[in-house]
Amino acid sequence: MTPGFSGEVAEYYAKYRPGYPPPVIEALRVVFALDIEDIVLDLGCGTGQLALPLASRVRSVIGMDPEPDMLRLAGESAARQDVRNVTWVLGADTDVPAVGAAVGRRSLAMTVIGQALHWMRHEELFRTLAPLFRAGGGIAVVANGTPLWLQDRAWSRAVRAFMEAHFGTTLQATCGSGAEDRRRYAKALRATGFTDVRETVIEYDTELTFDQLIGSVFSAIPANELPRRDDRPAFAERMRRALPPGPYPESVRVSVLTGLMT
Ligand SMILES: C[S@@+](CC[C@H](N)C(=O)[O-])C[C@H]1O[C@@H](n2cnc3c(N)ncnc32)[C@H](O)[C@@H]1O
Repeated sequence: MTPGFSGEVAEYYAKYRPGYPPPVIEALRVVFALDIEDIVLDLGCGTGQLALPLASRVRSVIGMDPEPDMLRLAGESAARQDVRNVTWVLGADTDVPAVGAAVGRRSLAMTVIGQALHWMRHEELFRTLAPLFRAGGGIAVVANGTPLWLQDRAWSRAVRAFMEAHFGTTLQATCGSGAEDRRRYAKALRATGFTDVRETVIEYDTELTFDQLIGSVFSAIPANELPRRDDRPAFAERMRRALPPGPYPESVRVSVLTGLMT
């Protein structure tokens, strides 16, 4: 079951979610010694935040996601950027055995999973992927910063309070971006036989306008809980009034957890 990335949420994701800065792509290239002969799988590729910048470094990318709207927008973005070596495949982690049957053993240089592993059965997935990697290939689990409502900033605390009051719930880190998640994933990688398991961190500072902030918030709300289109301007206005004046500074910490197969 796809966790709510359909329709307008996919549109907000494509438009407002930040991608990854070049040092993240470079870190992946270095760790797995990616070259122009390689095939990589981007599982849970969304609208192509990793698949697209990786495409110029390798022979081909398989961008796989169970949400057709995310894939459609990824394909449109690829066409705009004239990226032609990504194959967009509708599928989830449970379909990886079919990918394996298609590409064969020892054929993948990397599987990258950005902000998506928490929806997968990661232990089973790691076992399925292990025989598919060439020597020195492996898995990268990428977390793109801290959710906008969980940062240690006055504006972020205000976003959180506003959202918690609106949805009548307590917001927690559920996107696999926490240190405890990383420890679990690292342990599972080692248990599956991946070696040299380590985290690379890339940090940078940025600033969000209110439109970027609210667009990003909408991209993180499950499609069935998104305020109705007609109600969205009022929702945005109430949030704007609950926040200090922008712009909103953010320190982004991208975590890249990797494990290699020999
Ligand atoms: C938060 S987005 C991440 C998109 C992109 N990888 C990034 O780093 O920004 C999570 C994506 O995982 C996909 N997804 C959810 N469950 C999945 C599963 N079981 N297998 C593969 N992808 C899944 C969703 O459809 C969504 O596109």
